[in-house]
Amino acid sequence: MDLGLAGKTVIVTGGGSNIGRAISLTFASEGSNVVIADIDQGQGEKVVQEGNKLDGKCICVRTDVGDPDSVQAMVKKTVDTFGAVDVLVNNVGWTFERLFIEKAREELEKEIKLNLWGMINCTRAVLDTMIAQKRGSIVSIGSDAGRMGEYREAVYAGCKGAVIAITKTLAREVGRYDIRLNVVCPGTTMPDNPDEVGGESMWGPGGFGASWNTPEIRERIAKSYPLRRLGTAQDIGKAVAFLASDAADYITGQTLSVSGGYTMM
Ligand SMILES: NC(=O)c1ccc[n+]([C@@H]2O[C@H](COP(=O)([O-])OP(=O)(O)OC[C@H]3O[C@@H](n4cnc5c(N)ncnc54)[C@H](O)[C@@H]3O)[C@@H](O)[C@H]2O)c1
Repeated sequence: MDLGLAGKTVIVTGGGSNIGRAISLTFASEGSNVVIADIDQGQGEKVVQEGNKLDGKCICVRTDVGDPDSVQAMVKKTVDTFGAVDVLVNNVGWTFERLFIEKAREELEKEIKLNLWGMINCTRAVLDTMIAQKRGSIVSIGSDAGRMGEYREAVYAGCKGAVIAITKTLAREVGRYDIRLNVVCPGTTMPDNPDEVGGESMWGPGGFGASWNTPEIRERIAKSYPLRRLGTAQDIGKAVAFLASDAADYITGQTLSVSGGYTMM
């Protein structure tokens, strides 16, 4: 698929693991300059090596999306290295499945910091450059939880709902500069291989997903989806690349579920 993304500069937050990794490699295979902005430098560097074997020019910049100074420094490094920011993919997210009344305060704060402040910090940090360029595309990774609510994900769902609302509002505010913002909502998307995730991933040993990623649970979830299979990280990468590209140049403020028909709205 040639989407005209060759030579475009793309920041992918959390680009070291699972969905972010596949998004990074999708852009790399399109010939983009890819900045993997991940707190886990070791995992990010692994993806840099994979991406550079495709057509991409990839670098990893260690970034904490919850820290505005760290994010500003990452955007500066991107512009210093590649001269522009054409695309931002707000991919970092985190949850631990637990009932609202059983969740620890620190878990709620981490959900808000990574899912909401992360998106706000990174979006704010690229907008000055995009406005000056008079072009740009921002794709944020939401969740169907943010569209319809989800058992054991109250605050996570609230953050993802906010990501959708912020996206629509900013699409109105910055459309005049030819900057587009859209959201992609994955369904359950588990890594196929432990090498595809690092220690900070929800699917790593400390995340809730590690105990979930079994053949039995995969099969049970797949049965509840109209397309009868779980999504792959590559399914998300393709949708993000499309929305980021000029092929979608009249699409803004939209939310696209890539979840095998789990939600239809
Ligand atoms: N995987 C799913 O089933 C699923 C479903 C719906 C939505 N989503 C959303 O998709 C996105 C990606 O999910 P995933 O499963 O690939 O996540 P993941 O946990 O596997 O990977 C997250 C990545 O972000 C990095 N990271 C963590 N904290 C960071 C920080 N403070 N600053 C920078 N990087 C940090 C991690 O090192 C890791 O590489 C998230 O926004 C998630 O909410 C995922």
